[in-house]
Amino acid sequence: MSNAGEHISVLLQGAVDALNIRPDGVYLDATFGRGGHSREILARLGSAGRLIALDRDPQAVASAGGIEDVRLSMVHAAFSKLAEVLGDLQVESVDGVLFDLGVSSPQLDEAERGFSFRFDAPLDMRMDTSQGMTAADWLNQAEEKEIAQVVWNYGEERFARQVARAIVKARALAPIDTTRQLASICATAVRTRERGQDPATRTFQAVRIFINRELERAAGWW
Ligand SMILES: C[S@@+](CC[C@H](N)C(=O)[O-])C[C@H]1O[C@@H](n2cnc3c(N)ncnc32)[C@H](O)[C@@H]1O
Repeated sequence: MSNAGEHISVLLQGAVDALNIRPDGVYLDATFGRGGHSREILARLGSAGRLIALDRDPQAVASAGGIEDVRLSMVHAAFSKLAEVLGDLQVESVDGVLFDLGVSSPQLDEAERGFSFRFDAPLDMRMDTSQGMTAADWLNQAEEKEIAQVVWNYGEERFARQVARAIVKARALAPIDTTRQLASICATAVRTRERGQDPATRTFQAVRIFINRELERAAGWW
């Protein structure tokens, strides 16, 4: 949720209540974001408690610099690397783990991240901007069939095949490098308008999930 560019944590009290925090316990926030849940966990911990927080987004990690608290260990890592992170910190077990999956409002609101069709920006969409393929890299070289599968599987877009065909046609003329280009392609390919929804919504969601391997990483942890 967003409020003037800030992230309002979802179910803040309820989610942290569910952790049943022991003041001297060790907790893990696997998706720090802007630290709303982490701050609430710290507020409920005593001086002997400990919080380990992860995020794969370097900007989220940098935002933790505002929290001066020796009980907090902030680590730049995907939660698929949880076991290694805990090993490095010599933490053998934790008392509770919080996952708040998805994108944060700052990620959606910062045009240059390329997550949103509301702005014209480079088509990046990586949560971890320090590594991996951008959405533009992938869309400009993937096979039409693969694009259609991604858009269908992760966006449940009825016009997935038409979107993939339009992408391949457009990129033969010029590389698809911006959010506006992709949004315009979706507008030509998606023929039925869902009420209140932009024709690009499902495709953007699908490409974001694919580029960040969101479902694989979540499934890998369990
Ligand atoms: C909904 S936000 C979390 C908001 C946070 N609970 C708060 O109160 O500010 C989700 C965060 O999870 C991060 N994230 C997504 N997938 C991740 C993964 N596999 N490993 C670590 N962080 C991930 C994103 O970068 C984003 O910052």
